[in-house]
Amino acid sequence: MTSPAATAVAHPNIAFIKYWGNRDDALRIPMNASLSMNLAALSTTTSVEFRCDLQQDDLLIDGQSAAPAALQRVSAFLDIVRERMPEKQHAIIISRNNFPMGAGIASSASAFAALAAAASHAAGLDLDETALSRLARRGSGSACRSIPAGFVEWLPGREDENSYAVSFAPAGHWHLVDLIAVVNRTHKEVGSTAGHALAATSPLQSARVTDCPRRLALCRQAILEKDFAAFAAIVELDSDMMHAVMQTSTPPLLYWEAATVELMHKVRTWRSQGLPVCYTIDAGPNVHILCQQQDVTQVEGQLQQMAAVQAVYRSGAGGGVQLV
Ligand code: DP6
Repeated sequence: MTSPAATAVAHPNIAFIKYWGNRDDALRIPMNASLSMNLAALSTTTSVEFRCDLQQDDLLIDGQSAAPAALQRVSAFLDIVRERMPEKQHAIIISRNNFPMGAGIASSASAFAALAAAASHAAGLDLDETALSRLARRGSGSACRSIPAGFVEWLPGREDENSYAVSFAPAGHWHLVDLIAVVNRTHKEVGSTAGHALAATSPLQSARVTDCPRRLALCRQAILEKDFAAFAAIVELDSDMMHAVMQTSTPPLLYWEAATVELMHKVRTWRSQGLPVCYTIDAGPNVHILCQQQDVTQVEGQLQQMAAVQAVYRSGAGGGVQLV
């Protein structure tokens, strides 16, 4: 029997306290807790239909047949869902992003959050938020943070059962805005999955992990108190510490380009001149510039004057995954 299709929408998220390195790579149990905000303006919509007449899974992303590596990752993820189905069927998966994949905005979080919700529903499983977050984590670690709404903390746990994300403030709590300054649109050479596996080779990783609970508590408190100065200090420190680990891994990973560093300097100059703004950078050269709603026009104006900035995407805090 073929079951009805299900569709879900999820937002990517930007981490303020970063996830880098796993205790268990296969289960994606992270070495440290992390904290993020969902990005309302960006979304992935995915529908899944399990069918008895398919010989293999079929994946379309933004209207195109997916590359073999992407299909393999999605099929391996669907196998986890299929384990719980009485009849193991292959699926047609149709996924659309409202942001260009080539823009260097991480899409694996929204992709696996939407896929987890759509696939589990299509399979007839009734998962609560915790179970859904645990499932999404198996596809991409950061995807577990795109399940709950607003400002989210990933409780790292030590086993599959206790590694999932929870919301600690709704999207409307603080009008924080992420301006994503794109300086390079090409695909990164070493993706996050390969990067996580190198984290332990850096002598700085243990110091980063040990100090993480302190940074996370300060960041959560700054968000709850809407204290931008405290928030800026801890967010930049955490991003810099992750990149220090990346840069001192064997082999080393250097995601920054000249334009990335130029932006880091600019952000600090603007802040020293009184503009409340800070940066955070993921596993790529593009820079996420964070500010409060009342300062967006000024910050965006500054970014648009920079020759190195090819495009700017803007988003406030968003909700959690939703079935449609
Ligand atoms: C630098 O969640 O993309 O963005 O589990 O291998 O898919 P996989 O890794 P991923 O790693 C995200 C790394 C990061 C920091 C963060 O989002 O916390």
